[in-house]
Amino acid sequence: MDKLKTAEQENFISPDFDAAGFAGAMTGWYRANGRDLPWRRTQNPYYIWISEIMLQQTQVDTVKPYYLRFIQRFPTVEALADAPMDDVFKLWEGLGYYRRASNLKEAAVILKNSWNGHFPDTYEEIIKLKGIGSYTASAIASIAFGLPRGVIDGNTLRIISRVFNRQDNIARDSTKKLYQEVMDALIAHTSPSDFNQGMMDLGATVCTPKKPQCEQCPVAAWCMAKSEGTVNLLPVNIKNKNKTDIYYITAILRHKDKYFMIRNKKDELLSDLYGLVQYEVESPLSFEEQFYDQFHTQVRLLEYEKEFRHVFTHRVWHMSVYTGEIQTPQDETLNSFMYTWDELMALPIPTAHKKILLNQK
Ligand code: ADE
Repeated sequence: MDKLKTAEQENFISPDFDAAGFAGAMTGWYRANGRDLPWRRTQNPYYIWISEIMLQQTQVDTVKPYYLRFIQRFPTVEALADAPMDDVFKLWEGLGYYRRASNLKEAAVILKNSWNGHFPDTYEEIIKLKGIGSYTASAIASIAFGLPRGVIDGNTLRIISRVFNRQDNIARDSTKKLYQEVMDALIAHTSPSDFNQGMMDLGATVCTPKKPQCEQCPVAAWCMAKSEGTVNLLPVNIKNKNKTDIYYITAILRHKDKYFMIRNKKDELLSDLYGLVQYEVESPLSFEEQFYDQFHTQVRLLEYEKEFRHVFTHRVWHMSVYTGEIQTPQDETLNSFMYTWDELMALPIPTAHKKILLNQK
């Protein structure tokens, strides 16, 4: 594999790569050869939203009739917002992952009440809606509003890896982040809607994981894996099965204006850094008990915030984050664990917990 480049190399898109030519060939191919799908005959963001949610976990052919029935029965955001949930579930019957339907309905109510029934037209606002992650937000932003946000999924990761002849492990978040930048740079040269959908279709029909049809590929002339003969070795997709998953309840604990932080012991992971209190327990009540056992002070968890995940080399922390309040410390030594926000920000805190603190501030 020594012909392949690695992630350490800078300048992913070298100055002599014809990005505009590549992007133009992709959109030209899509316009001539893209699949004719019902949600591609509209630019109505509401319809595109419905289709993208259905397509999250379901094949194109299965989605088609569900999509058509759904938009016929609920032709507008208001119609969906006003519909009884039972009617929405009925139309979803058989599609699976029913949480998608309740999220759709919940988001429709917000769009009706806070957005006057309009769909938000920026990536940042779209991704705030319930049930929408970065792929779906990018798809809606580009298809409905022409915004230059590339979609990242298995198909587009594979194409980028081959075109640039890269052996980055596409299972890694760092690769997804890097390839997002590449997609955004390429998409800026052309119609974002046609580029993204061209990439989706190319990955589904031509640049397939096995037996890719390079002779039919509109961007073969730009494909460095093709010229180096490495297409069938790419992409590298290695999921690290040696990682241990650990499930914590993690708490942002306060007493008045101070935060409670503990210093990790010398021989622990992240030793000498400061962290939030977390225990491998399954309920807030067990957390409170364990805290009492350790510190002899009562704590009350007040509110669930959200899930956070942090990936280390050999382990993954899954953190259910709660806020909580420490009762007046009986033990004076506890005061040495308390920090104001400004003091806190001066402490060395590992990213796993820093991102939690910054998120709630
Ligand atoms: N999968 C996810 N979004 C899609 C789209 N817009 N067209 C085809 N397949 C998709």
